[in-house]
Amino acid sequence: MVFQSSSSKATKEFAAKLAARALARGRGKSATIVTLAGELGAGKTTFVQGFYKGLGIKRVPNSPTFILMRRSALRGKAFKNVYHVDAYRIRAAKDMSVLGFEKFLANPENLFLIEWPERIAGILPKKTVALKFAHGKTPEERTIRVTGMK
Ligand SMILES: Nc1ncnc2c1ncn2[C@@H]1O[C@H](COP(=O)(O)OP(=O)(O)OP(=O)(O)O)[C@@H](O)[C@H]1O
Ligand SMILES: [Mg+2]
Repeated sequence: MVFQSSSSKATKEFAAKLAARALARGRGKSATIVTLAGELGAGKTTFVQGFYKGLGIKRVPNSPTFILMRRSALRGKAFKNVYHVDAYRIRAAKDMSVLGFEKFLANPENLFLIEWPERIAGILPKKTVALKFAHGKTPEERTIRVTGMK
């Protein structure tokens, strides 16, 4: 699926729809993982903000400059926790591995949104919903390519 976004508002609305779909689909055998790839400023965190709104979370995250991973609790939803990960500063997947990250990935109660997934590709499962963000011709245009969503 390819979504053409014309504004950050449109990106957030699209994200909220995907969040609703993720909740409707529910848990798998391990964590549900949404990866967000694309260059700096492509709109990954903007998408996360819309996604959180779609999950019913009031306080939406901004760019976690120094924060590697942040958890929010979900009440009465298919998932108990949503984690926002920004792996930009991770140099090797083993940096995450020492933190016991795989244990979180194994838990079906967890929903993950991961920016810069290529940094930790070595420890991510193959089965993810993969989003790829790209800038467009105008400053507000973005292309969001979605693969792996059933
Ligand atoms: N269609 C659009 N979709 C998303 N963001 C847009 C769009 N048009 C303009 N923007 C702007 O582009 C910027 C995107 O920043 P954002 O932090 O979401 O990017 P990012 O991909 O998370 O970058 P980083 O790799 O640095 O984390 C924001 O300032 C946002 O308002
Ligand atoms: Mg970001």
